Amino acid sequence: MASTSITITVDDVEYTDDVEPRLLLVQYLRERLGKTGTLVGCDTSNCGACTVHLDGTSVKACTMLAVQADGHEVTTIEGLAPNNGRDGELHPMQKAFHEAHALQCGFCTPGMIMQAINVLDEHPDPDEQTVRDGLEGNLCRCTGYQNIVKAVMAAGASTGGAHKAEGGAA
Ligand code: FES
Ligand code: FES
Repeated sequence: MASTSITITVDDVEYTDDVEPRLLLVQYLRERLGKTGTLVGCDTSNCGACTVHLDGTSVKACTMLAVQADGHEVTTIEGLAPNNGRDGELHPMQKAFHEAHALQCGFCTPGMIMQAINVLDEHPDPDEQTVRDGLEGNLCRCTGYQNIVKAVMAAGASTGGAHKAEGGAA
């Protein structure tokens, strides 16, 4: 199949590559760029393990072709921390997950974090139900939802939201 040239900025680095038109964005990220923090957990588009940001909005990278990201900016879990994590500092949502023990096996965590950031972008001061609704498309097979929701609410509170991690308005 004829390949197509695409140029995508991923985690602040611009890449130009020839890809087959049918290559999924998640395959491009993992297999071409080695961004293996973006995971594949299903073949039905419903687990959310592959969630990344496309121009600042979360998308499931298994539901998009790499060519559809041509000319766009992608952020993966690996580029989330300031300075792409080179100075060891975490993104506030990563810190919140760490502090709330919001992971067990960790498989869902990269996608959850990417989606959770999007939830706070859309609802800077979410109540618990808003967080749960916002994370609906991301599955945690360890069923660690309680602490995940706490982490997102804590991150919201730490960035100025009024709702506290334990629930209820401040
Ligand atoms: Fe994309 Fe499951 S791998 S939704
Ligand atoms: Fe194991 Fe969520 S922590 S799948």
